[in-house]
Amino acid sequence: MRIAVIGAGSVGRSLATATERQGHDVVVGVRDPDDPRHADAGERATPADAAAGADLVVLAVPAAAVADALASLPLAPPTVVVDATNAVAAPPPDGFATMGALTRSLVPAAVPVVKAFNTIGAEHLLTGGVDGTPAFLPIAGDPAGVDVVEALARDLGFDVAALGGHDAVALVEDHARLWIHLMRTGWGRGFAFAVLGRPAPATAVPAD
Ligand SMILES: NC(=O)c1ccc[n+]([C@@H]2O[C@H](COP(=O)([O-])OP(=O)(O)OC[C@H]3O[C@@H](n4cnc5c(N)ncnc54)[C@H](OP(=O)(O)O)[C@@H]3O)[C@@H](O)[C@H]2O)c1
Repeated sequence: MRIAVIGAGSVGRSLATATERQGHDVVVGVRDPDDPRHADAGERATPADAAAGADLVVLAVPAAAVADALASLPLAPPTVVVDATNAVAAPPPDGFATMGALTRSLVPAAVPVVKAFNTIGAEHLLTGGVDGTPAFLPIAGDPAGVDVVEALARDLGFDVAALGGHDAVALVEDHARLWIHLMRTGWGRGFAFAVLGRPAPATAVPAD
């Protein structure tokens, strides 16, 4: 896939590196591609140039910058938008229960939006887990995009659970809040959640 990662911070860089390792064609969208701070961030372009025609656009900017960042992007099918943001310093803006709802409202209706990669420390996005154990990665959003993002996250090593549509985005953001709470109250950044005893996927019953 051609992947545009908007933001060259901890999340953007980890996802750019991890997806490039999987053989994807990755461009990092930064407001000033000549900014020396981003010199080691791989291939760079303005957010608009990076996003044009991309199969996947990953939003990896601070919550307060989401509206500004999205306003500059030319988004149209078949692009899928991945929202990796969390409202950490402040709640989502008035009228929006989640960052996912805000993002969904700012992206054209025909473009699927999926909440993903926000529930774990950015450094673990490079490996998909900790010490060789896959990390649990809940995702949710528009079905047409969830399939694409689920497959990508599995390739990155995660134990992915697609929780459902946009009504399940709050669960994903709550899961991120739990990781952040533990990180801040003494656990540090080295941990991730894993699931024990997960049932095998249901096997389809062949039609007669
Ligand atoms: N850090 C984590 O472990 C972690 C984990 C999961 C999810 N998250 C979430 O992921 C998002 C990114 O986190 P981060 O830690 O990677 O943040 P970060 O290190 O602060 O980087 C944010 C990036 O966003 C860019 N940016 C800011 N405003 C922008 C705009 N209006 N348009 C385009 N780009 C803009 C910045 O560009 P400049 O360099 O040009 O300022 C910077 O490259 C946040 O919502 C965060 O809550 C973070």
